[in-house]
Order: sequence, then C-alpha cells, then structure tokens
Amino acid sequence: MAKKLKIGLFGFGCVGQGLYYVLNNSTGFKADIVKIAVKDKTKDRSVSKDLITFDKSVILNDPEIDVIVELIDDADEAFNIVSEALKKGKHVVTANKKMLAIHLEELYKLQQQNNVSLLYEASAGGSIPIIRTLEEYFDNEELEKVSGIFNGTTNYILTKTINEKLSYPVALKQAQEKGFAESDPTNDVEGYDPKFKAIIIALHAFGLIIKPEEVLNIGITTLHENDIKYASEKGYKIKLTPVIQRLENDKVGIIVAPSFVKETNQLFNVENEFNGVIVEGKFSGEQFLQGRGAGSYPTGAAVLSDISALSHGYKYEYKKHVQKHASDFTNDVIVEVYFRYNSNADIEKITFDEVSEKYNSGDYNYIVGKVNLQTLLTNREYILKNKLFVSLVNDKISLNTKISSKIAKEKQLVNN
Ligand SMILES: NC(=O)c1ccc[n+]([C@@H]2O[C@H](COP(=O)([O-])OP(=O)(O)OC[C@H]3O[C@@H](n4cnc5c(N)ncnc54)[C@H](OP(=O)(O)O)[C@@H]3O)[C@@H](O)[C@H]2O)c1
Repeated sequence: MAKKLKIGLFGFGCVGQGLYYVLNNSTGFKADIVKIAVKDKTKDRSVSKDLITFDKSVILNDPEIDVIVELIDDADEAFNIVSEALKKGKHVVTANKKMLAIHLEELYKLQQQNNVSLLYEASAGGSIPIIRTLEEYFDNEELEKVSGIFNGTTNYILTKTINEKLSYPVALKQAQEKGFAESDPTNDVEGYDPKFKAIIIALHAFGLIIKPEEVLNIGITTLHENDIKYASEKGYKIKLTPVIQRLENDKVGIIVAPSFVKETNQLFNVENEFNGVIVEGKFSGEQFLQGRGAGSYPTGAAVLSDISALSHGYKYEYKKHVQKHASDFTNDVIVEVYFRYNSNADIEKITFDEVSEKYNSGDYNYIVGKVNLQTLLTNREYILKNKLFVSLVNDKISLNTKISSKIAKEKQLVNN
C-alpha cells in the first residue's frame, strides 16, 4: 500500500500555494505538508505560523520528512536545496526548469549515486503530462520530433497582438496583471524559459543532456507589425515553438524561435496561456497534448501528481539516455526562415545558403530562405541588438546538403 508521505515544502508563492490548495482539496491522495520554508519575514501568510520556517536546515535535517518539494523562484538556491536533499537520501519534486536545464548532468548523477528519485513534471508544459508520457509510454519507440508551445506568457502576448491587435506593451502588461508573466519577463519573451523546457524534454525524448548555451533561443521582443501582417496575409499565425528533431545522421537539432504556423498544424488554435506539445514517433505517428502551461492550480496539480507517484516508489529510468537513442546534438543544420533586416550589412553578416523570396523597400526588408543554424546562433546578440526578426517558416530542421548526400551515398553502399 502507498505510504502517507511527510512533505517539506520550499516556497509558498504561486505554485506552492497552488499545491497546498490542490493537496487539501484532493479526495484520493493524502500527504502532510509538515513544514514550509520561505524567505520574506515581513509577509503575511495564509497558513499557521507553526508551519513556516526561514531556515532551510529545519527541513533538510528533519529525519521525519521523506519528500522535499522545491518551488522557489531562485534557480541557484534551488540547486543548493535540491542537491543537498538528494545527498541526504531524500526524494525531491521540483518545478524549476532553469535549475534543471543548467544542472541536468549533476542531478542525473546525484539520483544514481544516492538511489533517490527527482521528479519534475511541472517544469515543462505546466499541467501537461509530457515527461511521464515520454518516459513511460514512449520509453522504447524512436521519436522523430517533439515540438510545441512551451511558454504560456509569450503565447498569451502573441494571441493578443495577433488576434486582438493589441500593442506588444499592452499585451505584456495584461499577461503580468493576470499572473502569467513575471515583473521581469526576460526569461519568457527572449525564449529562455521554453529553451530550458526543450532541454528537459530532449533528455526524456532523445536521451541527450544538452547545455542551455548550446541551443539557440530567439524570442518575440523584436516582432514588428510588418511581420504579423506578412504572416497573416499568408494565413499563418506566429507562435513561439521550440523544435527538437532527430536527423538522418542520428543527431538531434534544436531551435527555439518564433514560427509561422499553418491552420493545419495542431498548434494553430492553441491560444492564450495554453501550451501544446506534438510528439512524433517513428511508428506511432503524431500525438498532440494540450493544457494549461502555467498557473497556480494547474502547476500545483502537476506537482501533486509527482508526489503521488513518489508514494508508489516511482523514479525516472532515463531509458533513452541509458539506451543511447540519439548519438549527439548538433547546430550544423539548416532551417528555413523569414528574416526581417534593416540594411545590407545585416545580410552580409547573416548569410543565407538559399533565398526563395526577397523584398526590399528600404523601410521594410525581408528574406525568406535557408540558413545554417550555427550562423543564427553566432549572431544572436547582433539580431536582438539591431531589432531584426527571425521566424521559422516551417517547423523542420534539415541536415546541410553535404552531410545528407554523404549519408545517402553510405546507405546506397550498404544496400548494394
Ligand atoms: N507560476 C507558474 O505558473 C509556474 C509554472 C511552472 C513552473 N513554475 C516554477 O515554479 C517555481 C516557483 O514559481 P512561483 O511562480 O510559485 O514563484 P513565486 O510566486 O515568485 O514564489 C516564490 C516563492 O519562493 C520563496 N523563496 C524564494 N527564495 C527562497 C529561499 N531562498 N528560501 C525559501 N523560499 C524562497 C518565496 O518566498 P517569500 O514568499 O518569502 O517571498 C516565495 O514563496 C519556479 O521555479 C517557476 O519557474 C512556475
């Protein structure tokens, strides 16, 4: 029978309070939150003072506490808490994607070395059960691609600017007022948050541990009304869509950037703070999951699901990592993009391998064509500083022709 767990909770903000509510209003699963660590001594709390502590060691050193739930908003301190808890043999649940993405390697090893479990369903896609779906259902099937909308804040802003024609600052302010965006929205609007999630998903979908600095993230801060007009005239919506894709050489490419999404794409109608994930399996084809990507109760519910799984002794086996499903990660790939630029200096710096459309009126200039992802990564700061805009025109990552024709020749030799 499942054991009734004693929980030490770190953080009592949006998600911490959501978990508290969801746990106390669940009819099935029961667990006790025995202590809550917070930071600010001046804040009023909605729970008994006896539950609150400002000293992390009170929770970490309590032998009665079996599970640490880490829900604070400071990635460095979260790593200190989580790694110390794992070393002390305690199971941990966290929602902190930034901390996870930066420290995946160490956290993976700490779990093995201390024979403990670290679960983090709420860290990617909020309430969408994507990690356990990849880990359990797709544990053996080779996946081709995982893509989607992994960030509620930017999806809300894009929905309001594109569908309701609100200006970017007004849409951002609304997102902040509704509690979707933080007061400093950089992580969301510059695409860091969906990149952290893409890195976590890449581990469970393809078995790779990738460093955040290796992956290109371009957000929506430089979006201009001309870009929206161009996309809508062609029947597209612009969404911020990470794409994680297996290539013919068994490597994996990742890009986190805005994307022109067609009406036939499942993500076209994923609006506001909702998230959507498309998983493409080699044999099973396409699966689509949609749900709330953020918010107190939805995220609290995902955390509770992890706590419940722990009570049954569940841990991630990282099967794709152990089985080495993909050989490596690469940025030496080609993506097809719409690129709005200011001057010739921009297109001399960001050189295209192939151009399929070009418009140049002085005020509004763009190219649609194929470019190496590494070129975009190298020039990321230049693109942002000069307010240039990049959007994928399809959600495909391809190998450059040299590599793919070499692979085709090798395959031909094997077949002969
Ligand atoms: N909000 C969402 O919808 C959502 C969705 C998915 C994942 N997440 C992730 O969940 C985590 C929590 O997010 P949130 O939105 O709940 O944040 P939040 O509302 O800003 O709350 C943060 C909480 O952490 C506490 N805290 C900060 N530093 C601390 C420290 N050193 N020791 C103890 N407590 C500390 C704060 O204490 P005080 O109360 O004393 O200030 C506060 O209670 C983050 O990693 C976030 O990325 C959030």
